[in-house]
Amino acid sequence: MNFSSKIIFWYSLNKRDLPWRNTRDPYPIWLSEILLQQTRVAQGLPYFHNFLDNYPTLVALAKAPEEHVFRLWEGLGYYNRARNLLKTAKILAQKPYPHFPNTPEALRQLPGIGPYTAAAIAAFAFDYPSPAIDGNAIRVITRYLAIDHPPQKALGMEQIKLGLQKLFDPKQAALFNQALMDFGATLCTPKKPQCQLCPIAASCSAFALKSPEAFPKKLPKKPKKERHFTFLMLIYQQKVLLQQRSEKDIWAGLWQFPILSDSFLPDPKTQATKALPLKGELVKTLQLPPHLLSHQKIHANIQIWQLSEPPPIEGRWVPTNQTSRLGMPRLLTRFLENEQWQHLWLH
Ligand code: ADE
Repeated sequence: MNFSSKIIFWYSLNKRDLPWRNTRDPYPIWLSEILLQQTRVAQGLPYFHNFLDNYPTLVALAKAPEEHVFRLWEGLGYYNRARNLLKTAKILAQKPYPHFPNTPEALRQLPGIGPYTAAAIAAFAFDYPSPAIDGNAIRVITRYLAIDHPPQKALGMEQIKLGLQKLFDPKQAALFNQALMDFGATLCTPKKPQCQLCPIAASCSAFALKSPEAFPKKLPKKPKKERHFTFLMLIYQQKVLLQQRSEKDIWAGLWQFPILSDSFLPDPKTQATKALPLKGELVKTLQLPPHLLSHQKIHANIQIWQLSEPPPIEGRWVPTNQTSRLGMPRLLTRFLENEQWQHLWLH
């Protein structure tokens, strides 16, 4: 048996039963691939079902208010994915017969669909012979062939593509891609791969070198960027002021309390009143635990103000008991849901 038959046979015995695999309908397949771009399967599953319950078809999704899509996405991060989901649905729903394109090239024209996602959707929905190169495929292939360059480098990626092309089975594109993905996700894992159970260990170069964990080769690591936010929770007549974040930073498009600055303040109260004409009482200043994102560490504190006059700041005033209707960063929803502090704004 060759590489692909072994992997596919292994898959027939070990595959995970995942809902987007029991269909050829590109809509749930596309949704699952966008969801899983930066999210683990276990975390993504409830979101997948919830999304389909709310928007069972592409045309239904195309009519969704963006805020509701963000709300459904809350907690997953990388909110551009949610925005692109809606953009794509609108683009496709405008056609006389709304449907997904069936080639990777055409799929890649849509927002939020990169080379991996395009190849995966084309293969899973249409059996298009496109190898899907995700993190799992990269790990398996760099190990199997002992590729010496990091996949982030052009040379490394070139070698992965060439290697995968030779091992790929174009007649069973969907099956091969799913099999390789599951094989990487559950057996050829980043740490402690189960080489003793592996059907291709005998021809695996990294196994022969006794160092599977040394592949894929890594780039030198960059430290996480540390950021300091001071949020102003401004309450006036039982409403709180929220602003939408820009599209070019973390939490793109989500709603937040106005941010006073991106640096720690030696004396937050005087700084706040100096920078802004706030009339009222600073009820509490809270330091939140550090919040880790993939490339950033966020240190946040929140000042809770009960105002006697509305401040001249742009934003939307939302009743303090209705903030959960807007998509907000996890850091802030966790704070708002913490019953310890709610007496400060709920009456
Ligand atoms: N991660 C990304 N796409 C996936 C899929 N189709 N099945 C399992 N995990 C995935």
